Amino acid sequence: MNPYRIIIVGAGNRGYEVYGRYILKNPSVMKAVAVAEPIDERRERLAREHRILKELCFKSWEEVFEREKFADGVIIATMDRMHVEPAVKALEKGYHVLLEKPIAVDIDGLRKLFHSAKEAKSSVTVAHVLRYTPFFRKIKESLHHIGKIVGINLVENVGYFHFAHSFVRGNWRNSETSAPSILAKSCHDMDILYWLVESNAKTISSFGSLVHFKSENSPKNSPERCIYGCPVEDDCPYDAKKIYLTDYTGWPVSVISLDMSLPSRIKALQDGPYGRCVYKCDNNVADHQIVNILFENGVFASFTMTAFTSRITRIIYIYGTHGEIFGDLEKGLIKIFKFGGEEITMNVKASGGHSGGDEGVMKEFLKVLNGEKKEPLTSIEASVESHIMALAAEESRKNGGKPIELRTLRSQVLN
Ligand SMILES: NC(=O)c1ccc[n+]([C@@H]2O[C@H](COP(=O)([O-])OP(=O)(O)OC[C@H]3O[C@@H](n4cnc5c(N)ncnc54)[C@H](O)[C@@H]3O)[C@@H](O)[C@H]2O)c1
Repeated sequence: MNPYRIIIVGAGNRGYEVYGRYILKNPSVMKAVAVAEPIDERRERLAREHRILKELCFKSWEEVFEREKFADGVIIATMDRMHVEPAVKALEKGYHVLLEKPIAVDIDGLRKLFHSAKEAKSSVTVAHVLRYTPFFRKIKESLHHIGKIVGINLVENVGYFHFAHSFVRGNWRNSETSAPSILAKSCHDMDILYWLVESNAKTISSFGSLVHFKSENSPKNSPERCIYGCPVEDDCPYDAKKIYLTDYTGWPVSVISLDMSLPSRIKALQDGPYGRCVYKCDNNVADHQIVNILFENGVFASFTMTAFTSRITRIIYIYGTHGEIFGDLEKGLIKIFKFGGEEITMNVKASGGHSGGDEGVMKEFLKVLNGEKKEPLTSIEASVESHIMALAAEESRKNGGKPIELRTLRSQVLN
């Protein structure tokens, strides 16, 4: 059988490093036949590695959809605010779509996507990678051990250097150019809560703010860029030199420059966004946020997203009428305590990006392409709910924790 023909839209970190590499590793099932990317070096690098014909290398997504359908699927891995339009066009042309999250950044975008997916003959697989991790799958399968769920506490430990990289210096630092952190980062967590609880959220309230990464916390006499010698560099965990100039060149270091040589990385810190002092950036997204959720089926959940953790992980406690579950994603550790009964410990540590979730979402996309599944686990319909939850949390946060009823927001999207 011939491999499915895939168009990659956006050859950045996700398009090139995650999906592109998966395709290269699995040539019998997928082949990248076209790329759309405005940055020449990125487009040419992807085209070279995938041997894409020159006439199928485009500078922007619009050019792809001006043509008659010429492939089976499209991977949309552009930035947050460039998801709705290409996805709607791809569906109109009849392509199956793998769409990065957040699928949209506002209610209007969600409505457009929801209706265009409903009318389309092809489908959208949203990259809610957590649902595809062995860790969360195992937790979902284990719920029967603990009776009826009463409550969940979920904590997203973003990790201090990850937060500084992505949400202070990088792409997701400003809600005007990307999205609020609760949407950009934590729509995954809203999705996991919705999936585990199996009910729509009824009411949400949230507090949070940009606590730390702002000018009033900048050390005395600190320069604009870490590379220019900072009086507190020995003690500053956010020092760009400590993050980007070691022997390690994987993510997030790989994002700062195409060339990983030391001189190129130093130049990137001199000229680019990643060399800036974390207290002197144009960032505005919250670095610590808590969300309380009451679901329609009576389950209570609380969620914390925080920059201020050493590890990058998710910690979950699920409280049931007959037992409880504890989990730590990064360790792959799950413990089930059946009240008055046995204690079960499981290790489901998985390799690969997002604890196995990146590979998982590509396998799901393949099932849609080969017809094994008509609708993926993470369809637009499923994803819309997590986005409504995140938008409600942001609205509440901006209004001093005011409770937001989701029914109205939902009806604006679905009707
Ligand atoms: N599913 C996940 O767990 C996960 C993880 C990280 C990022 N993401 C999401 O993936 C998306 C991409 O993130 P990234 O880190 O790869 O960003 P990136 O900036 O590295 O890549 C985006 C690429 O899109 C390109 N682009 C810009 N305009 C374009 C156009 N008109 N046509 C085609 N391409 C265009 C950019 O030049 C860039 O190379 C974001 O929305 C992000 O939130 C999802």
